[in-house]
Amino acid sequence: MRVLSGIQPSGSLHIANYFSMMKRMIEFQEENELICFIVNYHALTTVFNKEELSKNTISAAIDFLSLGIDPEKSIFFVQSDVPEVLELTWILSNVTPVGLLQRAHSYKDKIARGIPANHGLFSYPVLMAADILIYKPDIVPVGKDQKQHVEISRDIAIKFNNIYGDVFKIPEADIEKEVASVTGIDGQKMSKSYNNTIKIFAPIEEIQKSCMSIVTDSTPIDKPKDPDKSVLFEIYSLFLDSNEKKELRDRFLNPGLRYGDIKKELYKRIVKYFAPFREKRVYYENHKDDVCDILSEGAKKAQSEARKTLEEIKDVIGLNYRKA
Ligand code: TRP
Repeated sequence: MRVLSGIQPSGSLHIANYFSMMKRMIEFQEENELICFIVNYHALTTVFNKEELSKNTISAAIDFLSLGIDPEKSIFFVQSDVPEVLELTWILSNVTPVGLLQRAHSYKDKIARGIPANHGLFSYPVLMAADILIYKPDIVPVGKDQKQHVEISRDIAIKFNNIYGDVFKIPEADIEKEVASVTGIDGQKMSKSYNNTIKIFAPIEEIQKSCMSIVTDSTPIDKPKDPDKSVLFEIYSLFLDSNEKKELRDRFLNPGLRYGDIKKELYKRIVKYFAPFREKRVYYENHKDDVCDILSEGAKKAQSEARKTLEEIKDVIGLNYRKA
């Protein structure tokens, strides 16, 4: 099966990014054909700073390689290295009803947050449809917040196929139920914009600080604690197998547990869990040329796929006029 995903180059990866998306992605590459890219064209809709965009792009590439994306097994590249996707975006724009885009939650949310309503922001889902459809994937694993965007891509593909014949494969969204959203240290959904994350590659003192700030209730030490209402238990569980989780549950249910001790344990566990990734990250930081070579290789493979689809499309819509 072909699996595809785009990643925002937004900097400072946190454990929710890892558990809700990356871990799954990295597992996918073992048995599937994985196509994974950093969406710097999409980032242009909200980032207007040269350093920020370029640094975040390379940094996202380094993060992904450090966490286990294997360029031997997968096609890993930066979106703008395959500009064919923009040709397809324009083509798809012509079968995209404005109403479909007006209903996009993500667009409405961004406008509500005061982001200027530019055309790029409005047509973001069309670029995303092109991103997906050009590589003909079977499934697109995304977080809940991107589900509607995948549905829009499907609608656009169906509309196109109805007019021109079955060129596009209709992709399925794959939303991981269990960890679709990870709770943050304050009890809300973990998100960069709420400033309640535990960052994977932050200095360890910062990770410690985040762990120690996880909200807990005021149950006295000599009383049992309810693990099912505990943010601390929930976050810790991400790092535990089922036996360990059961042990921790028992500790919560028995009097005497100090939240502070559990927080310290969690901090150590997190540091240990990500230690091999952090080491790899240091290597890639010092070998950026290797990273750029990997991305160029990935782009070559992706581009040859993209060109194939684009030629088919141009044939069926009549842009290949020389063949007339
Ligand atoms: N919009 C997605 C996000 O914000 C990123 C993205 C762009 C994407 N193109 C994609 C995700 C294609 C999956 C497939 O997370």
